[in-house]
Amino acid sequence: MDDVAVLPRPARLRRGGGQLVLDATSTVSGSGPGADAAVSLLRSLLAPATGLWGAPGGEGAAIRLLDEDRDLRSERYVLRVRPDGIELSSPGPLGLVNGIQTLRQLLPPAVYSPGPRREAWVLPEVEIEDEPRFSWRGAMLDVSRHFAPLDFLYRFVDVLAMHKLNVFHLHLNDDQGWRFATHRYPRLVEVGAWRAETKVGHQRDKAFADRYDGTPHGGYYEQSQLRALVAYAAARNVTIVPEIDLPGHAQAAIAAYPELGNVGPLEVWRRWGVNPHVLNLEAATVQFCKDVWDEVMDVFPSPYVHLGGDECPTSEWRSTPAMQRRATALGVPVEGLQNWFTRELSAHLLAAGRLPVGWDEILEGGELPKGATVMSWRGEKGGIAAASAGFDVVMCPDYPCYFDHYQSSSPDEPLAIGRLNTLEDVYGYEPVPAALAPERAGHVLGTQFTLWREYLPESRQVEYMALPRLCALAEVAWSAPERELGEFAPRLSGQLRRLDELGLNYRPLDGPLPSQRGGTGVRRRFDP
Ligand code: ACM
Repeated sequence: MDDVAVLPRPARLRRGGGQLVLDATSTVSGSGPGADAAVSLLRSLLAPATGLWGAPGGEGAAIRLLDEDRDLRSERYVLRVRPDGIELSSPGPLGLVNGIQTLRQLLPPAVYSPGPRREAWVLPEVEIEDEPRFSWRGAMLDVSRHFAPLDFLYRFVDVLAMHKLNVFHLHLNDDQGWRFATHRYPRLVEVGAWRAETKVGHQRDKAFADRYDGTPHGGYYEQSQLRALVAYAAARNVTIVPEIDLPGHAQAAIAAYPELGNVGPLEVWRRWGVNPHVLNLEAATVQFCKDVWDEVMDVFPSPYVHLGGDECPTSEWRSTPAMQRRATALGVPVEGLQNWFTRELSAHLLAAGRLPVGWDEILEGGELPKGATVMSWRGEKGGIAAASAGFDVVMCPDYPCYFDHYQSSSPDEPLAIGRLNTLEDVYGYEPVPAALAPERAGHVLGTQFTLWREYLPESRQVEYMALPRLCALAEVAWSAPERELGEFAPRLSGQLRRLDELGLNYRPLDGPLPSQRGGTGVRRRFDP
């Protein structure tokens, strides 16, 4: 199927011998509740390059979209391209969106050009039945360590959507910047969104020990901007899951409101690493968190919301008499304060009809709140423990799901946070751990990659670190677990031509991908 470079690989694909040519006179029709939105998405994706505006057609339209109105949640679709026309049907609107992305991949790569192109808009005759393996196919972007301009967030949504990644996890705050404007606490962005300057070089590099760039950095999003982004993403089957990461990673919030902290005034942090300054957990601080979450939930309708919870040192709590008294009053040890906080906040989110997600540290220090989902990042251990205990999990072990690691060992690679994590490593990842009992496998909702941005100040650098590893992770998340690099390689080449058309700054391949040695399906990581 060389000319049918569909990525991620569909569940079933049958190639026919014929083809179909679309031209300016080709018409489009839709039926069912999701059809109007699907038709307008199709137009917006095809028209800029092709000039195919898809005039409304009836039963004999060249492209017919059918929402069967049977299942709002189903992502399944059937796409038939025949010499006399295209039929795309789905049990509900999400499948139509997925099928439209596949339809676009059947056209020449020039269809991805943002401006008009002269091409024969030919599609191969093909029949595709497709649905995803996992419901959580995600991407986390850190917009705190470096702020992402709004237009980049739109571009990022487009890239996720074209790979059928459906969760955009937006990491909205950290020690180095608060990015979500609230009405109730204006200083969160007036103060918390701006830092005086930024650490130069790698945190661990002694040559740069106390070097800063002398340049203020910051930015934030208004709620109206985020609402528009949420709607844009939703039309593309991408749900934005907001993260407010507390009670650690809180220095920007404390800089804005010193009464939230334990030690008096602080500035928005200028360097990287695990920060000792955490929230105090007095009643007023917990109320602050709930108030912030009420505004966040009002902007983001996502069923899942992420309360963070990673890397929260207890040193300040242990050395602060007020926090020792607080722990005693709550009847928990100081080491159990974070768990108490997680349960308190989870109850607030659950009462609002949302499902809390937390980094795997939320497993520690007490009971996991009912209804919580665990994001396993310190390897697979947390995910295995949570799924074994009957909780849902999202698997994103730092290796191979952290895309702030190096893509190759070449000395020419730009500065990255740490170890080697290649395209092949990502492609070889299996999100259901071998150590998990088979009857618990259903608790693995899926997988995601993360883009932490300590060392990625520019959008172009984010693109470079995301791509093409994102293409591999998309396939891990969508397609059947039997994977072969040799089979992936030509489809990836096709995808790279599309990324070229979009002007995305992906890391070029070093050469042909090695075909896999021995056997078929890849269950574990690739050997070098
Ligand atoms: C994390 O990487 N601290 C979740």
